[in-house]
Amino acid sequence: MVKTLSRRALVKGASALAAGGVLDMTLVKLAFGAPSGAGDFTFAYISDSHIQQIEGGKFVRNWDRGLKRAVAEANLLNPKPDFVMFGGDLAQLGKKEELDHGLDLLSPLRYDVKYVLGEHDYYLDLGEYWADKISKHYYSWDHKGVHFIVLNSIIVDEAWTNKWATPMERMLVMAGLDDPRGSPFMVGEKQRQWLAADLAKVPKSTPVVVFSHSPLQKIFKNWNFWTDDAEEVQALLKPFSKVTVIYGHVHQIQYNQIGAISFHSVMATAWPWPYPETYAQEGSLLPVMTVPMNRADPFHERDATGWQFVDVHTGNVALSYSLPDNSPRVVAYDEKLKRPRDLQYSERTIPPHMHY
Ligand SMILES: [Fe+2]
Ligand SMILES: [Fe+2]
Repeated sequence: MVKTLSRRALVKGASALAAGGVLDMTLVKLAFGAPSGAGDFTFAYISDSHIQQIEGGKFVRNWDRGLKRAVAEANLLNPKPDFVMFGGDLAQLGKKEELDHGLDLLSPLRYDVKYVLGEHDYYLDLGEYWADKISKHYYSWDHKGVHFIVLNSIIVDEAWTNKWATPMERMLVMAGLDDPRGSPFMVGEKQRQWLAADLAKVPKSTPVVVFSHSPLQKIFKNWNFWTDDAEEVQALLKPFSKVTVIYGHVHQIQYNQIGAISFHSVMATAWPWPYPETYAQEGSLLPVMTVPMNRADPFHERDATGWQFVDVHTGNVALSYSLPDNSPRVVAYDEKLKRPRDLQYSERTIPPHMHY
C-alpha cells in the first residue's frame, strides 16, 4: 500500500509552520518487509537548479525561486528525510559566483546534503572549484543497509575537452542542450575501475542506489540524454539483486527497468525540457529547442518543474514528485511487475494523435 504526500498537505504544512503549529505530513510509505539490516528511511532529491548570474550580485530570479521553494518544502517534511541529494547542474555556466549563490540558497536545509556533479557545474574549470568547495566527483557510502554510489557521468574524452580556445567557450558549447559541437557523456574507464573495486566489497543481496547526472542508459544522443559507456556500467551492477539508478539532467519524469536495475529521473527546479523525438513524437509537435523555459504558458513559472522525495523502505525505491503547478506523482517499484510504475498514469491509454 502506498500513501503519498499531497500538495495540499505540503501547503497546509507550510501555513501551519507559519502559524507556529505542528506539521503533520505523510511521506511515501511502502508497506512490505524491509530487508534485514535496513531501516525505514527516506531522502529528498533536489536537482538542476541552473543558478545563473546576470551580473555582479544579480541572478536569474526564476531559477533562484525554484530552488528556494524546493529547499523550503524539503525543510517541512515529516518524518524528516535522512539526507538530501543535490542532483547536479547547480550552476548554469560553472562560475564560482553561481556555485556560491547556489550553496547559499541550499544552506537553509536542515539536513546533510550530498552532491552529484552536472555538466553545467563542470565544463568551465573541469570541476576544480566543485572538488575544493563542494564535493568529491565520485564516492560511495553505506546507510541503513543500502550501498549508495555517486558517479560523475558527464565527462567526455580528453581530445574534446582540450580542444577549445577558452574554458568559457567549452562551457557554452556544453551548456547548449542540442549544440552539435558537444560530445557524448561517459563515466570513463578510471571510474568504472573504481566502481568495480567499490562493488567488490558489497554483498550481492545489498540494495544498491546509484546517483548520476546523465542517465546511465541510452535515451537520446543528440541532447546527451545519454551515457556512452552505459552498458559497461550496467554490467558492473548486474550481479546485484536490487539496483536503482537515479539521475537528473533530463528535466522530466522518466522511468525504466533493465534486468534488475530500475531507472528513475528527477525533475529540475529551473525549467522543463520537452520530450525528445525518440519518444515517437510527431515532428510538427516538437517544440523549438534552445529556449531555456520552453512551455506553453510562460506565466506558469513552475510548470513542469519540481523536486522529489524518495522512499527506500525495501531496497527498491518509490519517488514522490512534488510539482508546484501540477498534481503530485509517484513512481514506485511494483513487486508484481518487477519494474517501476507511475501509480497514476502508467496504465492510461493515450489516443494516437496525442502521442508524445
Ligand atoms: Fe540540467
Ligand atoms: Fe545537465
